[in-house]
Amino acid sequence: MGLEAVRIIDLPKISDPRGNLTFVEGGRHIPFDIKRVYYLYDVPGGETRGGHAHRNLQQLIIAMSGSFEVLLDDGYKRKTISLNRSYRGLLIPTMVWRELVDFSSGSVCMVLASEYYDEADYYREYEDFYKAVREK
Ligand code: TYD
Repeated sequence: MGLEAVRIIDLPKISDPRGNLTFVEGGRHIPFDIKRVYYLYDVPGGETRGGHAHRNLQQLIIAMSGSFEVLLDDGYKRKTISLNRSYRGLLIPTMVWRELVDFSSGSVCMVLASEYYDEADYYREYEDFYKAVREK
């Protein structure tokens, strides 16, 4: 899969003067069952995270608070997406290199993942990822 399969998914938002509510149902709002949730927080302003791709894992990334930019690269094309809404998810399919940059201070990034943590699923070196997509 490549950048064509990257999608912004606007999740349900229940607006309420008491505060808004958003929910995510695996297999309904996103095309996978959720096996793991992790989040990045206390990220110093301007910091960078990510810098890897996954063989089998799909993810939905949400800026729960604050903002950051996601740089995406499928080995052929590149694209940047800004996230700054708690109801907006960025669906990243398999085999897409991502870097999360320009975190605003105090931002929180939540990730819903289709698989348990598995280091063997990562491409941590861009060179290895690039070779793998180009060889296919
Ligand atoms: P890492 O993948 O390098 O973070 P980033 O998203 O910025 O690239 O993860 C940092 C460390 O946390 C690394 O040692 C692996 C570990 N980790 C887990 O143990 N479980 C997880 O679910 C995740 C996402 C990371």
